[in-house]
Amino acid sequence: MILLNRTLISAVSADKTVSPVPRKREELLDAISILRRERNAVILAHYYQDPEIQDLADFIGDSLELSRKASNTDADSIVFCGVHFMAETAKILSPSKAVLLPDVEAGCTLADDCPPDEFRKFRERHPDHFVVSYINCSAEVKAQSDLICTSSNAVELIKKLPNEYSIIFAPDQNLGKWVQRQSGRKLTLWPGSCIVHETFSEEALLKLKLQYPTAEVIAHPECQSNLLAHSDYIGSTSKLLKRAELSRANSFIVLTEPGIIHQMKLSMPDKTFYEVPGLDGCSCNSCPYMRLNTLEKVYASLKYMKPQIHLDEPLRIRALQPIKLMLEMSS
Ligand code: 13P
Ligand code: SF4
Repeated sequence: MILLNRTLISAVSADKTVSPVPRKREELLDAISILRRERNAVILAHYYQDPEIQDLADFIGDSLELSRKASNTDADSIVFCGVHFMAETAKILSPSKAVLLPDVEAGCTLADDCPPDEFRKFRERHPDHFVVSYINCSAEVKAQSDLICTSSNAVELIKKLPNEYSIIFAPDQNLGKWVQRQSGRKLTLWPGSCIVHETFSEEALLKLKLQYPTAEVIAHPECQSNLLAHSDYIGSTSKLLKRAELSRANSFIVLTEPGIIHQMKLSMPDKTFYEVPGLDGCSCNSCPYMRLNTLEKVYASLKYMKPQIHLDEPLRIRALQPIKLMLEMSS
């Protein structure tokens, strides 16, 4: 699978029998527009994509919004500019459509750190538990879950579950701990975390707060508790965007992947946004998986209709049930 995409990209530039990727930005954008019309494709992008991909997309959203969009689009093909679990969710919801992920190596540490076999053993140790899984997990883990949630509806959904339920929450322990505090429910947590949100430095955040005392701190719940404790508002990527739009504050310290700042600046050109660096000032606050997608790969995926997501039908049907329940239960 991994080789496939690399091979595809190099074939595009090396093989004389296939048309080369247009080198000039304008030509590349025009070529993508022509292809997306020919393929009747919709381009969906997560907020953590590079700005040039966000600018090209038909729809930008958080995980929940992108799932909804994937389930009700009229397009024949979906180019999913995000990571593997997101494209896989789109395929689970829209099996008759071709779902393209421009770079098949675009994974996610949360999904990768929850192998289905290990998860099965974990569930077997808690046989009476209701299983709630964050959408950042594989189809195999979804198929073992009773309910899927995203960062925008996790608290709402957990609060709706009967009080007598014992609940497993996987795979993000930071999100799980935040949901526990918000809902007052005890959760049995799978010990996963996101490499990007774990990397934010508390020291750098405190320095920024001292430097910009009137800035509001807005944070994604995948951050660790010590960082969330310094935050004025916590929510999914879409909720952070809305919060900044509605807030009276003029400046914001943004504790999540900085791709979202592109939409914040477009929507609020008069407000100021500060990103928080990683530990030791590294630039690892950018998601290395999300950023694998490029315009060239979007072009190649539409041109060759590869790499596509494929799923066994029995697995798809099992993984669909908890996603459907989420869509029915969330407002
Ligand atoms: P959202 O649900 O806010 O889109 O978050 C997805 C994600 O992967 C965050 O790291
Ligand atoms: Fe996964 Fe973290 Fe990247 Fe989101 S930011 S896709 S949780 S690795």
